[in-house]
Amino acid sequence: MIERYFQFLGEDQTIQLLEANEKPLTPSIRVNTLKIDKDTLKNRLESKGFKLESIDWIHYGLKIKKSPLNLGSTHEYLQGFYYIQSVAPMLPAFILDPNPSDIVIDMCAAPGGKATHMAQIMNNEGNLILIERNRNRIPALEINLRRLGVSNSIIINEDAVNLSKMNLKADKILLDAPCTGEGLIRQDSSRKRSKTMKDINKLSSIQRKLLKTGLNSLNPGGQLLYSTCSIAPEENELVIDDVLKDNSDFAIVKIPGNYGVKGIVDVYNKTLREDIKYSQRLYPHLHNTIGFFVCLIQRNI
Ligand SMILES: C[S@@+](CC[C@H](N)C(=O)[O-])C[C@H]1O[C@@H](n2cnc3c(N)ncnc32)[C@H](O)[C@@H]1O
Repeated sequence: MIERYFQFLGEDQTIQLLEANEKPLTPSIRVNTLKIDKDTLKNRLESKGFKLESIDWIHYGLKIKKSPLNLGSTHEYLQGFYYIQSVAPMLPAFILDPNPSDIVIDMCAAPGGKATHMAQIMNNEGNLILIERNRNRIPALEINLRRLGVSNSIIINEDAVNLSKMNLKADKILLDAPCTGEGLIRQDSSRKRSKTMKDINKLSSIQRKLLKTGLNSLNPGGQLLYSTCSIAPEENELVIDDVLKDNSDFAIVKIPGNYGVKGIVDVYNKTLREDIKYSQRLYPHLHNTIGFFVCLIQRNI
């Protein structure tokens, strides 16, 4: 893993990344604006002894600087006033920014962190179609939808690779792809050793299939947001470059707002399509987040 990091980060940044991976992440919550506004929730939690700080990127996000209670056991949590979510995973739904009138598909939905976020942005209107292959993960998704008061969604227990057979076309699609979770080492140190090159190759093949299917299910002018909690180019830029190869129907869109650093165009002795630079990478040592990747792709009209 470190040898690969040397190739796309260089020695200095790799060392900084490894050091940052050892530092704990400040917990954060996303206020569920379907049920409560940020100031009211902030006052309620502060009166219980919480110390909270705003998040620059997400105006309804709060960092937890001091927490006298377990975040998952407050009355406010049980009433669905917030979702416990770190900052980087708040970005995909925020950037995709679905409209209340849109048909939206979340191709890999459980346990619903980003799905409930999209429902909130859509003001519980429009159609939110949630696909999840793993039946065992659906109860957690259902519980989160119910707790947060989401009422514009349906769940389909299916392999999203079969999306094209479902005859569905969407205005916005979120593909928060299954990945090695290399970016999660800061939260889960077992990830340092749990995945091999074989896992990366297997996942990158699944990611390619999912991305291809997702893009084919977009309406003209529709957008797909691809995200992973991995910093491996094999699961990010290389997947996108390969799927978009020789296909002039799609373009990578410049993400409104600057969150991370540019996507990697030159990697492992390969030069990828130029617009891959519009994707954004987030790193523990540069952005004080988990390792994360986002890329917004649009179908031409
Ligand atoms: C990264 S997690 C998604 C997290 C979720 N988006 C959230 O924000 O809470 C990936 C999910 O995709 C599911 N998954 C993996 N392969 C899939 C496939 N081919 N079709 C549909 N879901 C899949 C996994 O079971 C897992 O629940």
